[in-house]
Amino acid sequence: MVTRLDWTSQPGGALHGSVRVPGDKSVSHRALMLGALADGTSHIHGFLEGEDTRATAAVLQRLGVRIEAPAEGERVVHGVGLHGLRGTAQPLDCGNAGTGMRLLAGLLAGQAFDSTLVGDESLSRRPMRRVTEPLARMGARIDTQDGLPPLRVHGGQPLRGISYTLPVASAQVKSALLLAGLYARGETEVIEPHPTRDYTERMLAAFGWPITFEPGRARLSGGHALHATEVDVPADFSSAAFFLVAASIVPGSTLRLPSVGLNPRRTGLLKALRLMGADIRVENERSSGGEPVGDLVVRHAPLHGIELPEALVPDMIDEFPALFVAASVAQGRTVVRGAAELRVKESDRIATMAAGLRALGVAIGETPDGAAIEGGVIGGGATDSHGDHRIAMSFAVAGLVATGPVRIDDCANVATSFPGFTALANGCGFRLA
Ligand code: S3P
Repeated sequence: MVTRLDWTSQPGGALHGSVRVPGDKSVSHRALMLGALADGTSHIHGFLEGEDTRATAAVLQRLGVRIEAPAEGERVVHGVGLHGLRGTAQPLDCGNAGTGMRLLAGLLAGQAFDSTLVGDESLSRRPMRRVTEPLARMGARIDTQDGLPPLRVHGGQPLRGISYTLPVASAQVKSALLLAGLYARGETEVIEPHPTRDYTERMLAAFGWPITFEPGRARLSGGHALHATEVDVPADFSSAAFFLVAASIVPGSTLRLPSVGLNPRRTGLLKALRLMGADIRVENERSSGGEPVGDLVVRHAPLHGIELPEALVPDMIDEFPALFVAASVAQGRTVVRGAAELRVKESDRIATMAAGLRALGVAIGETPDGAAIEGGVIGGGATDSHGDHRIAMSFAVAGLVATGPVRIDDCANVATSFPGFTALANGCGFRLA
């Protein structure tokens, strides 16, 4: 049982300093899973010590994988090979993590044993047919509760490759199919309506699995092996996002965010904020572990509202709560369309943000697939994150520029993706307690 945690974010002065945000959540999940299925011992550096990624590690340990944590942010994964996992009658608890559950559904569909994947209250409300339906076309048998978790994955089902065009852009669904494809006879092909983050593809290649991919399409065949490797996890752009918005909107601020992952499928918010007038520079751009990384330097700049280009939506799918806060203080109106996926994240992020911002006096209109936000002044008041980590951190940012304290209820889940957020935030000028 997670202990209840509420925050108050007080208006403060300019933000300054260097903020090293934790490792990327998407990369950390995948590194554990591929390391577990590899032959040999993989080393992960910069691993996210969050509850989501720790839940995935615990699931893999239950399946017989030895995972050591020699130091914070370090994991040593003793791979058991593609067919070396051992089944367990115990439910496998993915906690709050949609990525964990959906990717594991694909991975477990190809095993000889049965498994049951469960999650917390929020995850238990998230749609799973988007993975179980295409997996069923590959020959998998997975029972849901009316499309929701728990997932009962039946083992011993021979899988066959399919070509599947995703109805919605989802890296989780794509990745689940590719992981099942490792166990399938023939070729598995995934085609996306919009390209999404390609970490699974890149990492499969790094672990030596033959795969061809380009933005919007990935193809692999079953019957090869994964070979242990080293994985350097970049800092998570989605965690950096809160500081990008915070420094942009608080007058006098300058923040440096070192070694942030800049995979183009993740940096939509950077483009959106620049369209709004933000002053964000990328320094020291380099490649680390096959991923582009760089230091972000953000300075306060007056923002103006935009009509967000829909093409940016998949590249910033986790950053809308932060964008909504930026839009609330920008001059003029910001309009978001084509983002219906926000309704099935850790909370309904359109409804949760709209309710919270309205409580702070912001004029925001909801649509089924987006919102229109009139920029102006954020007032003090009481908001509820509904247990959604990114909403909690976004309202902490809102509190910095509000005319009074912003109370944020239900913040414990910030630990799922960003352990230590409060300390880092307060270290650069937030007043969060
Ligand atoms: C993720 C994909 C995205 C994102 C999530 C992480 C991943 O979800 O929102 O936080 O690691 O593949 P969808 O695939 O549902 O868009």
